[in-house]
Amino acid sequence: MRWHSIHMSLRFIVPLVVVLALFAYAVVPFMESMPERWFVRDLDARSQLVANAMQDPLLEYIPQNSGKRVEQLFERALHDERLYALAFCSPGGRVMYKTETYPDSLGCRMVRNPGEKLTPVVRLPQGAVHVWESPLFDAEQYLGKMVLVHDMSFIERRSEDTRKYLILLFIGLGIVVSMIAVLIAWLSLRDWIKAVRGLVQGDFTPQEQAMVPREVQPLISDLRELMQDYRGVYHGVGEVSLSWTPEKLRDLLHDELAGDEILVVSNREPYIHMHTEHGIEVQRPASGLVTAVEPVMRACSGTWIAHGAGSADRETTDGNDRVQVPPRKPAYTLRRVWLSEEEEQGYYYGFANEGLWPLCHIAHVRPVFRSTDWEHYVEVNQRFADTVVAEARTDDPVVLVQDYHFALLPRMVKEKLPKATIIMFWHIPWPNPESFGICPWREEILEGLLGNTILGFHTPFHCKNFLETVDRYLETRIEYEASTVSYGGELTQVESYPISIAWPDMEGLPPVPEERLAIRTELGLPPEHLLAVGVDRLDYTKGIVERLQAVERMLELYPEMIGRFSLVQIAAPSRSSLEEYQHFEARVRRLAARINDKYSSGANGGFAPVLLRIAHHDSEQVTRYYRAADVCVVTSLHDGMNLVAKEFIAARDDERGVLILSQFTGAARELVEALIVNPYHIEQGAQALYRALTMPEIEQRERMRSMRTLVRDYNVYRWAGRMLLDAAQLRRQQRVIAKIRSHSAKPFRRAR
Ligand code: F6P
Repeated sequence: MRWHSIHMSLRFIVPLVVVLALFAYAVVPFMESMPERWFVRDLDARSQLVANAMQDPLLEYIPQNSGKRVEQLFERALHDERLYALAFCSPGGRVMYKTETYPDSLGCRMVRNPGEKLTPVVRLPQGAVHVWESPLFDAEQYLGKMVLVHDMSFIERRSEDTRKYLILLFIGLGIVVSMIAVLIAWLSLRDWIKAVRGLVQGDFTPQEQAMVPREVQPLISDLRELMQDYRGVYHGVGEVSLSWTPEKLRDLLHDELAGDEILVVSNREPYIHMHTEHGIEVQRPASGLVTAVEPVMRACSGTWIAHGAGSADRETTDGNDRVQVPPRKPAYTLRRVWLSEEEEQGYYYGFANEGLWPLCHIAHVRPVFRSTDWEHYVEVNQRFADTVVAEARTDDPVVLVQDYHFALLPRMVKEKLPKATIIMFWHIPWPNPESFGICPWREEILEGLLGNTILGFHTPFHCKNFLETVDRYLETRIEYEASTVSYGGELTQVESYPISIAWPDMEGLPPVPEERLAIRTELGLPPEHLLAVGVDRLDYTKGIVERLQAVERMLELYPEMIGRFSLVQIAAPSRSSLEEYQHFEARVRRLAARINDKYSSGANGGFAPVLLRIAHHDSEQVTRYYRAADVCVVTSLHDGMNLVAKEFIAARDDERGVLILSQFTGAARELVEALIVNPYHIEQGAQALYRALTMPEIEQRERMRSMRTLVRDYNVYRWAGRMLLDAAQLRRQQRVIAKIRSHSAKPFRRAR
């Protein structure tokens, strides 16, 4: 801040000094010489006058050689206070007569060159003098020359004064000019700020807009674009109140959608019933999608349609494949859809997770596309679409479709329920058109997605990629400004809705210091042991290998951390029947073992630096780790949003702990106070880890406090609320259009 002000002042002072120096160099000497020139001119005239006056007497005295009278004449003339000395030189250049004051050094040498206009000033040891020579002729005969010497010291004194006053004048002028400049700059800056603020707040009237300073005008469109991007990310921040709660979302449904029916479709179910050795148990899957959508469903009720994948799922549903959830306090219906093993293999493992998943993440795993997988994908999408139609109690339900498992379903539902409002959220990134072009069924996928009323992505960047992909592969009309695609007479709104979590209630949880101690004791670590935590599905997009490599490098660079630090990596097994995932798990295990071998022994060793926990952990357990850790590490190679980052922040009601966050997550666009890293850059990851582990508490608090405010305000109710508000608006529009159409379709009656 201080450097900034010094910098600003220098920008102002340096040009001022330069201008003043130029003045001093060029203008002052010029101005100084002016009075001297005026005085010389004046003395020239006076000398001429005196010489004229003495000419007659001298013409009389010189031929008579009357030295006495000449000297008397000279003495009289000297009474003129400025005339300092007089002399008369013979034609041979010898001083014949002179006053006592006449300087010997002057002699009779010629002072003024022929042709010179003014008499030059002669500098003598006693000071500057003005020397005037006046020839004396008698008829044609040259008798000699008079030399009149005027004292010029007074001119020097005056010049000195002039210089002083001039410099003072310029300094004064400089100050006044600068003050005026500062005033003008301040006034225009004020206009600028007003203009920019108006743009940012978007509250310009057209008149005000016309008043925007001319220099700002070219910026308007840039700023607008920027603000649109910003609003895209934080969609709905300004329009609706900052505190989004389940109640508010419920009210919104009631007010805006008149209690319209909500149907959710996803592959993963929010509650899985499993047979275990303790009987049937309910599990919550490790899924960002479920984390986000479940609280919304609790708030809104309705029906959630999902694949029944649990071993005890069939036994826990009623005759219509429905079960009320959450089991302890039912709030909505879970409708399970059954898939054969073959179907699950083709649609879920095959097309969705070996094809679309690597295709959209671009994380260096090649997508695999098989026709049989595609056929199952089409089939299962149709089965879910039929289930939506069957579950809908009205012909215009609001259907919330989740993720890449159901790219075809929106169009399928639209065909059966044309009045339905279909909102789809794509939870993973959308790649650039070239990458997407690899998919052999790219047109079918895009057509399916354009069956949506609203298609949501996490970031404006993914929306842009999608629009460009549509532009590349389908004949459509795209309005980039409005972010809409018109295809087959139907309009799809493409928007960004950054997903989030429900702000958790931490009441009743043990305080952080207690949890720190408890977790360290459970892990067999000393109380002051430094702990980082990573929580992910065991997936190659999560950057787990890179994270472990960063740990290894950190210990190489900072050996004092050996034996004092460990990373607990919680990794929920995921898609384990796929070869790619099996290889990945093996690789992670090998790497963790190698690092532990290297650093768990020796003088500093003893405590393993990597504690790998490949197992399902429920959200309560995960929260305990979040609270006990010094650092949470999220190093995804590519991630739509990443809710672990937000969960960690929400868990830290002590405002401590540091988040390391990959720049390739959607979350990095919001959580700018995290330590943002490029996970591919191992050295950078290592340095970030060290920095996080040694970060002063005050800095941790500042960063954490700011991120907590953001996550609390931009919670999942806002995410859902914004989509539902947009849907409500589109539904109103559609109803009006339908009314207009039905009126215009009525036969025209002639007045009788
Ligand atoms: O990130 C995409 C996603 O579908 C999420 O929505 C979810 O968190 C995760 O993958 C879970 O994957 P799966 O359902 O295949 O276990």
